[in-house]
Amino acid sequence: MLVEMKDICKDYPQGKETVRVLKDVCLQVEEGDYLAIMGPSGSGKTTLMNVIGCLDVQTSGDYLLDGEDLLGAGSNRLAEVRNRLIGFVFQSFYLLPKLNAIDNVALPLMYAGVPKKERRERAVEALKTMGLEDRMTFRPNQLSGGQCQRVAIARAIVGKPKLLLADEPTGALDTASGNQIMDIFDRLNADGTTIIMITHEQAIADRAKHIHYIRDGVLSAQKEDETEKAEAAGRETEEEPLPSAPTGEDGETDA
Ligand SMILES: Nc1ncnc2c1ncn2[C@@H]1O[C@H](COP(=O)(O)OP(=O)(O)OP(=O)(O)O)[C@@H](O)[C@H]1O
Ligand SMILES: [Mg+2]
Repeated sequence: MLVEMKDICKDYPQGKETVRVLKDVCLQVEEGDYLAIMGPSGSGKTTLMNVIGCLDVQTSGDYLLDGEDLLGAGSNRLAEVRNRLIGFVFQSFYLLPKLNAIDNVALPLMYAGVPKKERRERAVEALKTMGLEDRMTFRPNQLSGGQCQRVAIARAIVGKPKLLLADEPTGALDTASGNQIMDIFDRLNADGTTIIMITHEQAIADRAKHIHYIRDGVLSAQKEDETEKAEAAGRETEEEPLPSAPTGEDGETDA
């Protein structure tokens, strides 16, 4: 199991009180999986992503990343684990504006101690797999949003991480560029990269193998309205068994 969370809680101090932002989150993600997490603004998606990605530490509960308990690990150790296991992709790309595409992509390899020549070769290779062979020496302000995100993905995967974490990767992109990013994710996942992706968009989430929903810090494999429907259906049959009329208009599918 790559990600194994049990009863994870995350509290933030808020004046004299504390706010519980993650509530008893349990999550298991196997190697090779592709999970989308959906939920309203402020529901705890980024907080959860930060704990999964070892950018933040849970207040309570158990978290094993690739079988390892990192609670109490120092910041150097956490940085080393992040660098080795995890690639991050964010809505706003976070590319360094003064560096061209190759140097942006090569940067994590520098932190990993890879020699300069190999850094450059691997960065070029990663950019080619993103279809950016003709944009290698462009700086971020000379690239489109979709191209910037592809550079950011190249940077995320250049160290061959097991786990790719993406927080609203298509949030700043038009539909066509977003779909291009999703095609890249499909390919990475087919090649064995485990992906956890946060999104607001159903069409984007539908590209994943599974969807989980977070609402007010509570993670569930079921959509809340589906839970309500199931409960309502249960109540109907318990109380007064009425024949249920087919509605055929809510357009929901399980696909
Ligand atoms: N450092 C912090 N200190 C205090 N509260 C925080 C902190 N970080 C996040 N929160 C609170 O935790 C809640 C969840 O925030 P989070 O960023 O995880 O939401 P989100 O689901 O990613 O939302 P969005 O879709 O808008 O990005 C919010 O109510 C936020 O105010
Ligand atoms: Mg967020």
